[in-house]
Amino acid sequence: MTTTIRTQVGILGAGPAGLQLAHLLQRAGIDSVVIDGRSREDIEGTVKAGILEAPAVEVLVDTDVVSRDYVETMRHDGIEFHFDNHAHRFDFPKLTGKGVYLYPQHEVLKDQIKARVAAGVTPLFEHLADKVVDGPNGPMIVGKTATGEAFEISADFVIGADGSMSIAREYVTGNKFSGMAREYPFGWYGILVEAPPSSEELIYSRSEEGFVLISTRDENIQRMYFQCDPNMDVNAVSDEQIWDILQAGVATHELKRGNIFRKDVLKFRSYVHDSLRKNKVFLMGDAAHTVPPTGAKGLNLAFSDVLWLNRALREYYRSGSEKFLDTYQEDALKRIWKATNYSYMMTTMLHIAPDATEFDKKRQVADLYSFTESEAGQTFIAEGYVGWDYSADDWR
Ligand code: PHB
Repeated sequence: MTTTIRTQVGILGAGPAGLQLAHLLQRAGIDSVVIDGRSREDIEGTVKAGILEAPAVEVLVDTDVVSRDYVETMRHDGIEFHFDNHAHRFDFPKLTGKGVYLYPQHEVLKDQIKARVAAGVTPLFEHLADKVVDGPNGPMIVGKTATGEAFEISADFVIGADGSMSIAREYVTGNKFSGMAREYPFGWYGILVEAPPSSEELIYSRSEEGFVLISTRDENIQRMYFQCDPNMDVNAVSDEQIWDILQAGVATHELKRGNIFRKDVLKFRSYVHDSLRKNKVFLMGDAAHTVPPTGAKGLNLAFSDVLWLNRALREYYRSGSEKFLDTYQEDALKRIWKATNYSYMMTTMLHIAPDATEFDKKRQVADLYSFTESEAGQTFIAEGYVGWDYSADDWR
């Protein structure tokens, strides 16, 4: 037997974008159902990075997902660039009047899920979507629960917020490749380590050996990365070698070592799908685009899509007008390309490509000086990092 659920907006994916859209829609009196194939424990227990831009934090605070006092404990007012035996600190409040928030994605998810549960509309976990199809009354999500029961969600609209392996994308773009991609000839070797922070602020370092990032999770757990071959075997380096590589990237700080309890190799790429809508099915977040992690833009960019769709759906249910649904793709793509460019720039400026020539390397260092020596250059980097204001600002 198939269980059929009727709703106004069916949302695929209980990630930060899907949950936030459901939250905003509910505040406007619009029904939605969020489904995800994973269990709640899985979603909340997968430790993930998270730098939230100031505008994304405003959305969460303004809509009562988190309290201002709580987020302010996670605020960071700067980052450092290390290059050419030189350290430069970007002072975000001075340059932009804002800060960023080290608010790991799994913590954001916990707070968003709590808000959904408190509102009486718990997401349907362990509901694995198989595909999106045209139903008699609009698009339909069909799938099976973890226990094998068939379900369908019949909606006015379906939103694919189901990540880079999106099944909604098949409906929107067909099976064929439909977008623009940039591969990078390097990846990140990441570790999680039990140790106190080595630096108060994040350090992005570019040296002749490549890129190093010193980040943090909390007072006891640190996250660090170094540039590597994306196909490297995670066991190919010893802990001693890992520390040597990381330490070589940040000569000015004595890294506090500790037990390395997770190691992973991250491959990354830039990807923008050129089609974000077909009929009443829309894509947002990683289903629509992917950025490399260097600029910490991913989650924040997904929030921009959320706000555009929120505006479009609110307008539709308020007045029947499809005008903002029709402009969603164009509206969203502007910021998607700005963030894609910013992430690309940060990535190529700070990593050494395996085939880099002396010319490339000298040019890279000149780029870094250009962005750090003048206030205009610093402001450009800082504005992108703390986040450009969202254009669709009618979320309240
Ligand atoms: C992280 O803490 O994992 C992290 C921080 C900043 C980035 C990317 C990842 O740009």
